[in-house]
Amino acid sequence: MASVNSRSINITDNLSAKRTKSIAAFAAASRRIRKPRSPCFHPHRTQVLQEKPSRQSPATPTPGESADMDDVGRGLKAAQTSGMGSESAGNTIWKCSIRSTTPLVGDTGARLSLVVIDTDSEERSPVIKVDSWRPPREITKSDGTRGWEREGAVSLPAGIKAPGAVLVRKKGGASQETGAASQETGAASQEDKGGASQDKKGGASQDYIETITLVSATSVHTVNANSWVSSAHGWRVFFSGFAYLPKDTPLALRDERQGELKALQGTPETRVEKRKDTDRIYWFQTYNDLSSGKSGNLVRPVLGGSKELPYPRRLATNRGNERDGREKAPKNKEEYWLQQDDKFSFDKKEDFQGASMQGLEAAFLALLAEAADTTTPSAAALLPTAVVGLAKQVVSTITHKENPLANFEDFQDVLAMYMKASGSDFKKLLPKKLYPAEATASKDETRSGKASRFKTADGAWNFELSPDKAAEVDKIMAEQRVGPVYDSATGTPAEGTHSSFEGDSKPDASNTEERLGSKLFDFVKRKTTSINEYFSFKVPRVLDGRPDAWHMDEEFGRQMVAGYNPLVITALKQLPERFGSAIRGDHVNADLQGSTLEQLVSEAAAGGKPRLYLVDYWALSTFWADMEKDPGMPKGKVQHAGRVVMYLRKDKDGNDTALIPVAIELAHPNTHKKNPKLLPTAGIVYSRSQLSGDSRTLAVWRLAKMIFKSMDSSVHQLGSHWNRTHCVLEPFYISLRRQISVMHPVYKLMAPHFRYTLQINRDARMRLINADGVIEQIVPSDKYAMLYASALYRTTWNFATEALPEDLKARGMVDPATGKPWLDYPYAIDGLDMWSALTSYFDTYLRLYYKSDSEVLEDTELQAWWKEVKTEGHPDLLKFGHRKNEEELWGFAGPIPSIDKLQRVLATIAWVASGHHAAVNFGQYDYTSFILNTSSLSRRPMPEPGDADWKELTTAERLAQEGIILTYLSDPITAAKVSSTVSLLSHHSRDEQTLDEVNELLVDPKARAANQAFMTAMKQLESAIEMRNADARNWARFGLAMGDTGGPLPYTLLSPGSQAGVTMRGVPYSVSI
Ligand SMILES: [Fe+2]
Repeated sequence: MASVNSRSINITDNLSAKRTKSIAAFAAASRRIRKPRSPCFHPHRTQVLQEKPSRQSPATPTPGESADMDDVGRGLKAAQTSGMGSESAGNTIWKCSIRSTTPLVGDTGARLSLVVIDTDSEERSPVIKVDSWRPPREITKSDGTRGWEREGAVSLPAGIKAPGAVLVRKKGGASQETGAASQETGAASQEDKGGASQDKKGGASQDYIETITLVSATSVHTVNANSWVSSAHGWRVFFSGFAYLPKDTPLALRDERQGELKALQGTPETRVEKRKDTDRIYWFQTYNDLSSGKSGNLVRPVLGGSKELPYPRRLATNRGNERDGREKAPKNKEEYWLQQDDKFSFDKKEDFQGASMQGLEAAFLALLAEAADTTTPSAAALLPTAVVGLAKQVVSTITHKENPLANFEDFQDVLAMYMKASGSDFKKLLPKKLYPAEATASKDETRSGKASRFKTADGAWNFELSPDKAAEVDKIMAEQRVGPVYDSATGTPAEGTHSSFEGDSKPDASNTEERLGSKLFDFVKRKTTSINEYFSFKVPRVLDGRPDAWHMDEEFGRQMVAGYNPLVITALKQLPERFGSAIRGDHVNADLQGSTLEQLVSEAAAGGKPRLYLVDYWALSTFWADMEKDPGMPKGKVQHAGRVVMYLRKDKDGNDTALIPVAIELAHPNTHKKNPKLLPTAGIVYSRSQLSGDSRTLAVWRLAKMIFKSMDSSVHQLGSHWNRTHCVLEPFYISLRRQISVMHPVYKLMAPHFRYTLQINRDARMRLINADGVIEQIVPSDKYAMLYASALYRTTWNFATEALPEDLKARGMVDPATGKPWLDYPYAIDGLDMWSALTSYFDTYLRLYYKSDSEVLEDTELQAWWKEVKTEGHPDLLKFGHRKNEEELWGFAGPIPSIDKLQRVLATIAWVASGHHAAVNFGQYDYTSFILNTSSLSRRPMPEPGDADWKELTTAERLAQEGIILTYLSDPITAAKVSSTVSLLSHHSRDEQTLDEVNELLVDPKARAANQAFMTAMKQLESAIEMRNADARNWARFGLAMGDTGGPLPYTLLSPGSQAGVTMRGVPYSVSI
């Protein structure tokens, strides 16, 4: 009789582990966790090399009683009453159950085989064939999702008491057999050769397996697979959840550990082979897939691999290359390859506001086609093939010069984007302090009704399809979304299929509803979001209750420390002329409350509190010469470069009250031709004190701020957001999968910080950062956008300074004596608390497994990872001489030498993926969708003193002046496009994992306790942030200096928890949107 004293629930690793709903649930689960089997907790465990037992003939299983695996107690009872645990010829009868979350159709659950491996005895079971079990049955889980379960009794050798791993194989159908067993994991037994199948045409048979549960009379062991098992794979191994350093791996699992890594690494040959859907190989590739066409204006240079355009690597997709080294575009616009387990869950995909980015863009274009009344096909016909071809045709038609959508007419016209959402409160959005009393009013500022194709009589934008057309579009969008689910029902996994539906589809039916399955169709229909909702913009929080905030200098400065891009500001510790700027004391002294530029700079340089701050975007001049020569650059986009100097204002008692811009320096490609005496590094200086006091030149000052924010928008999106989070993290994950086993404690700690990153980055390469993608369309640099991203990586990115404290130090934003920020800097203040909790957690966790620095040095998997990240993932900066040495780029040279350094490396990655990304991602809608606050485009060169544009602006009446300003900023189509896109990107999905939630990959109790302490710290941080936001002394949160029309805007972007939706708060573990 097998006897194990305690029951066990082993939870293993998988990136897409389902989220635990609450801490209480975690605590309850923890109480049920069996004592660990990690050698770290069993120092006296003897590891004796034993000969593997000879294979036994397959057991003849006895069907067991039905049992609900959600109920451990009932499961055990069922096992006992059904004879589980009884011995037979030295074997013990267990009950085994396989669960999936995909629909029960086709051959799901069939032709699966298992081998169970014991951790301690190293004994392996004979091959268990599930086809002798009862057929799979449909199940509904407590959260309402449906799938299938297949269970049966198995006879395991008596030596198997603590399964440490389960090998799983899925055979193909008869027609797919090739007779060759895959040895991918090195696990298949000889006797099974000839059984495993692999369809070389890619038509593999596969199952999504969520869990495999083994129940004996006294114990329950659950292995979480959460992965697709394919007939193309041969044997797959899934381990129990306990963590082991490589040297501590139980002997029974060593080969499997190495075999699994080898399968993910591939060989030098297979790494570069064309990818099939079922492939699992991770390898690196340059960004050679950004072109959207074979030639002409849709070709983009390769980023990465050259001195001129260094860049991190991305996941290799291997579609084959064109002659010039660019990767071929996928055929028939199919999705770029991605390992199936890295794809979005169905919930996540659904939460892309009910559609993928492609759907969104398609809907948008369909609407534009309608609005422009072109002869393009109907929206319904357009949708399935939208985005490419017709897209340009449509856009070029409606952005025609005479098109009424070319410009907003005045500021209220911009606000009208929110008229529908604000309803009777619309008037509260209108600014009250826009003009000084003496400003010249227009003769007639009453806005008479002028309904048009694009506007209603009350001036609201009418960005809507007719009800008929909208319904037609909705129907097609619903079908599009059903597609992947339907695909999965045929046994072919596709995008986001980790959910299940009724399996009542009729594949051959001509009627859509029948073909998709009526219940499934109903489900999707109910969830359909009307296309019209994409064009009903909610009031952004930067405006809501703060009608005058956007035009105030105090708000401009506040956003540099508490807005969407709070990590570019630096303390000014040298005179601007030292770095080639034209800003001088005359421009700023009048705003410095009795001090001078020279005084304040020298005080800061001597170690005193800085009162002047700088944001320098001169790097945006990098490609001016190329853009000027390029006939492919569109007209009407102007890339400015420049700087802003800000002053930290104080009250009579010396308390800080606001950060205000005092001088803005701007230049564009023609500035130096018009001003030959100007230094090449300098622009035209716009002085607050000289411009904002005069009602005529106030417009110039406002425009200078707006043009600056346009630059800020580009640097935010390309630098702070894409480059510094999404892009740089990808190689760390590719190498993690290749070099560090899922059994490794570092894998278990870090995997949640990469959840969905590969998919969101792949989607970005397909639709956002590619040639003519959304980013190129909405920024002034257009086809040079990603070249700027490469330039920013080349000039500014160092891993060593991505750790928050180092970043703040490098920018001079903290007092070196205390490490505390010099000023009310919410991003830094909340971020440092988060950083501190993160590093403390990581330190505790790592010391559970590493007992000395030498154990870190000798960890072969870890060091292979770190070396590969540097040499294969981020090779360019050192290779091409952009950095002096490894210390500058990585913080230290060579292998990771100590636990402290390892903690710093991992915490930096985790911070970038969580806090840093959340801070720059989830405020995008509320700050950057409203073009008066932030316009992504600048369409005209900034006027210079005395030129015609300056005269035009300074002599116009109010409304005309507003209309002129708006010709410099984003047009309505771009504004709507940006709003739609950033709304999507600011959105938390329902299955998001935020830092206040458990890392389910951790099983060892001490590791769980460390995780629990971190979660508690995150809850405490939420409370601390709330209190800071309620304290009127915190000018950057409370906004007191801005008065009642400015109003407070609490800083919540680093509050860890969030509901689903656009919430302007919540810190997910990973870059997943
Ligand atoms: Fe993001």
